[in-house]
Amino acid sequence: NFISAYTNKRTDEYGGDIHGRSRFMKEILEGIRKAIPSDVAIGIRLCGEELLDDRGGNTPEESLESIKIADKAGIDYLSVTAGWQESPVSVISRDVPMGNWLYIAERMKKNIKAPVSMAYRLFVPEIPEKAMAEGKLDLWEMCRPMIADPFLPKKIMEDRQQDIIPCIACNVCLARLFRDTELCCTVRPSLGHENEVEWGFYGFQKSKTKKKVIVIGAGIAGLQAAAIAAEKGHDVTIYEKNDHVGGQFSAAAHGPWGDQEFQRMVNYLKAQCDKHGVKIILKTPVTKELLEKEKADSVIIATGAAPDKSIPGSDKKHVVSLFDVLEGKVKLGQNVVIVGGTGAAISTALYILDKGKHTVAMVDKPKKFGLDVNPSYVWRYMKKLKEGNVVQMLQSAVKEIRDKEVVVEGPDKKETAIPADTVVLANLAPNKEVGYGKYAKDVYMIGDAVQVRRGTAAIRDGYKMGMRVDFFPYQTYHRIKH
Ligand SMILES: Cc1cc2nc3c(=O)[nH]c(=O)nc-3n(C[C@H](O)[C@H](O)[C@H](O)COP(=O)(O)O)c2cc1C
Ligand code: SF4
Repeated sequence: NFISAYTNKRTDEYGGDIHGRSRFMKEILEGIRKAIPSDVAIGIRLCGEELLDDRGGNTPEESLESIKIADKAGIDYLSVTAGWQESPVSVISRDVPMGNWLYIAERMKKNIKAPVSMAYRLFVPEIPEKAMAEGKLDLWEMCRPMIADPFLPKKIMEDRQQDIIPCIACNVCLARLFRDTELCCTVRPSLGHENEVEWGFYGFQKSKTKKKVIVIGAGIAGLQAAAIAAEKGHDVTIYEKNDHVGGQFSAAAHGPWGDQEFQRMVNYLKAQCDKHGVKIILKTPVTKELLEKEKADSVIIATGAAPDKSIPGSDKKHVVSLFDVLEGKVKLGQNVVIVGGTGAAISTALYILDKGKHTVAMVDKPKKFGLDVNPSYVWRYMKKLKEGNVVQMLQSAVKEIRDKEVVVEGPDKKETAIPADTVVLANLAPNKEVGYGKYAKDVYMIGDAVQVRRGTAAIRDGYKMGMRVDFFPYQTYHRIKH
């Protein structure tokens, strides 16, 4: 990058001060302007604030100067950006409030003639709309929201906001890009399959035969499978033992740092279920008797995950599940021990830190915690755990839970007792509440009930299940044989 003082160390006329560093960009713009007809617009993407103060990046004044130079060189619009990959602050993750960077667009608008466009966490139309009305922005730009739903502008035009598949800023798409693998999107599994009819990017075709489908569990996998099966014309009922839909995603949406945005996906899936006529029966645990009575053609087990209670003492009163903690059902003691070191356990620790001055320790077997967390999130989570003085007991296991302490076996196999007023079980395992049985012609299992993974996999499982539900008999990996 010629423009940034962070990377441009040249000593010739293309280096030096911001004018020298902008020369390359200016000459390119002037060259293009001369070479193309005047009615063809030229836009440029430039950084309005590098957020690299810790390593000698451009100051905001220098960035503005480079943009003024581009403006004078004859650009027709500016796409202004914020930060670099190397920036030590969050730029596009969920912990950055939507609209956070609009002040940069506003500053550009005040200083240049060309219209200003900006992306960066403008995920809902109300925010850019307001900014435009206030003269802070000219064009609403989106990257991830359009990966999540390329029909977003059309749906807004048609006033169908409930149908917009919401980006949850998980950055799975980016992480895959950085690893040179094909993109995939957590909330839209059809990404990359737009031309394949069976993936339903333009909607699913009606099935020739109508099946009676029962889905057990209204988490994201179950909701997604049900919505597609119903869109295909099947008679679909979801049974959910809790009083709300959304499962782990809804619990996670209680977390701090923008995690409430998970609920947008739950709301979207629920809206799709409602739209396609899925019956959702809450507060109703499913029994084998119920299933045998219902005589469904297909049963989809989407019962998610639950804490593993095999540690001696797990049934004690001060032992709670991470879901109870996240849903605010638990009064936490001063010393909290979290059993687990995955992303779900870390989110629980952050929630607890956010709620008060607890002393928190996490215990789990891996050499590093958060191995399942996206790289663009894990560093900031670790930073926050450090700031909150969370003790990470790596390569360790809780051997026993006692009334006021837990016994931890460390990497050296030595056992130590650490104080614990509340023990949070965040050691999730597949929840196999419903046994396999001959209660339907076809029984499937999807989501964390198969194997505990991230939401990306749960939604994908649900989506593929919906795609395949009318192809019975169809052998899939998760199809359960009687
Ligand atoms: C998969 C992916 C690829 C991207 N590739 C580029 C790129 O090549 N050049 C660029 O300037 N920005 C790139 N970006 C950044 C986006 O253009 C955008 O600035 C950023 O995602 C913030 O906008 P958003 O909040 O609307 O996603 C990419 C982002 C994603 C998610
Ligand atoms: S993968 Fe995640 S961040 Fe990327 S578009 Fe999909 S939901 Fe948004």
